[in-house]
Amino acid sequence: MRRVLVIGSKGMLGRDLCARLRQDFELFEADIDEVDITDFGATRELVGGLKPDEVVNVAAFTDVDGAQSNAWLAYEINAEGARNVAKAAAGVGARCTYIGTDFIFDGEKGSPYVEEDSPNPRCVYAKSKLAGELNVRQHTDRHLILRTAWLFGIHGRNFVEAILKRAAVGNLQVVDDQVGCPTFSVDLSEAIARLLRTEETGVFHCAGSGSCSWFDFAKQIVKAAGMPEVEVSPISSVDLNRPAPRPACSVLDVSKLYRAIGFRMPTWEDALRRYLGLRNERIGE
Ligand SMILES: NC(=O)c1ccc[n+]([C@@H]2O[C@H](COP(=O)([O-])OP(=O)(O)OC[C@H]3O[C@@H](n4cnc5c(N)ncnc54)[C@H](OP(=O)(O)O)[C@@H]3O)[C@@H](O)[C@H]2O)c1
Repeated sequence: MRRVLVIGSKGMLGRDLCARLRQDFELFEADIDEVDITDFGATRELVGGLKPDEVVNVAAFTDVDGAQSNAWLAYEINAEGARNVAKAAAGVGARCTYIGTDFIFDGEKGSPYVEEDSPNPRCVYAKSKLAGELNVRQHTDRHLILRTAWLFGIHGRNFVEAILKRAAVGNLQVVDDQVGCPTFSVDLSEAIARLLRTEETGVFHCAGSGSCSWFDFAKQIVKAAGMPEVEVSPISSVDLNRPAPRPACSVLDVSKLYRAIGFRMPTWEDALRRYLGLRNERIGE
């Protein structure tokens, strides 16, 4: 059985990913308590000791606005940490998987981004994640760089939970001038599991099918959660004035992924329904 090490296993994606990979692989899990990826010696020791076939790095600094005022730490984890993991994986001949982001694009293309499109990140988080991609490529040809977007999962802070929390106390204003692909961490985990069963390498876009604005997404969340009385109104990014600039339209074309694994990422509406179902089960437990 192939041996897979997931680093960042206790994060939002990490928890769902480990649950999925456990079904098909011999799984080893590590998070910050087991290894700090900014420490190359510790990373090499962990990877060298386990000698996995695959190293999947889902550890990251993910606070997009926070990165604007903490660039050093964002680069340390997202770029240098990614380099350390890639070097350690290459040292034992393992393929290295890194999770990238749609935010590396400037959002001005006007149609879905394909893997070959030129990045032009605008915020510190996205710049640090692009540096991570480049570091992984530099240290090993046997890499998978999987760019995802607008991730939501049951085990982490995410947009769906933020909207439900705010909707419980009143009406909402949500930006309508940013469009992207909401992606359920369970669906991304399925795509990763399938990719790990192939010999593919390179960059793949892995995001939920379809696209919407945050405003559309919020309206659908409120509707699907059975809160029709809550009013969702649009606001512009300029008026919201968050520290990190975000792309206006970072829709990812996922057809290369489909060609590689024959798995069509479910639509974000379907994913949202399944997410809310799981959430209700957890509340009922
Ligand atoms: N969330 C999104 O919308 C989104 C969109 C596109 C791409 N992505 C990418 O998808 C991946 C997974 O994101 P996520 O939202 O699941 O992230 P997350 O919930 O923040 O999980 C990241 C995990 O990595 C751990 N970690 C942080 N620094 C570490 C270090 N130095 N060494 C080892 N572990 C460390 C974190 O521990 P602590 O919690 O203790 O810090 C956490 O358990 C990331 O690469 C992210 O950039 C996310």
